[in-house]
Amino acid sequence: MSEQIHVAAGLNRKEIYESLLPQVKALVEGESDPIANLANIVAVLKTHLGFFWVGTYFVRKNEKANELVLGPFQGPVACTRIGFGKGVCGTAWKESKSIVVPDVDLFPGHIACSTESRSEIVIPFFKNKIIAGVLDVDSNYPADFDDVDEEYLQRICRIIETCI
Ligand code: SME
Repeated sequence: MSEQIHVAAGLNRKEIYESLLPQVKALVEGESDPIANLANIVAVLKTHLGFFWVGTYFVRKNEKANELVLGPFQGPVACTRIGFGKGVCGTAWKESKSIVVPDVDLFPGHIACSTESRSEIVIPFFKNKIIAGVLDVDSNYPADFDDVDEEYLQRICRIIETCI
């Protein structure tokens, strides 16, 4: 495990992602604990990309429950449980696909954990081809996420899949 993350000054967001990807890979290499790995990954994204909230929700599906439960995150406190098909996260789970929301107020059923959140992106991650959870990133700027974020956060999720 590498314990330091270095990002050169003056890079644009795509360049920051490019710089972070190999470092995130190195950060989790050799560590088998999923909570520790996710805690560090969300810390990297929050610290180096300056998002308002970065976190994870795990699928908890058994005879008693069918919901997402909050995992490691950075930012203000957030809702703990999200039902299947509810909000942006529950919809990404239900549809098993990434969702980019330029304006959270226009997303039907959006769950507002903070009124400061203006746009959002949710990316699913999988274990043994079954959806295991979602990576959720919120911005306090409207329309803050585009194809670049979707591509690189999906690549982050592919790393998550190796270390959870
Ligand atoms: N907005 C999300 C809920 C989680 S928070 O943003 C941290 C949703 O609609 O699913």
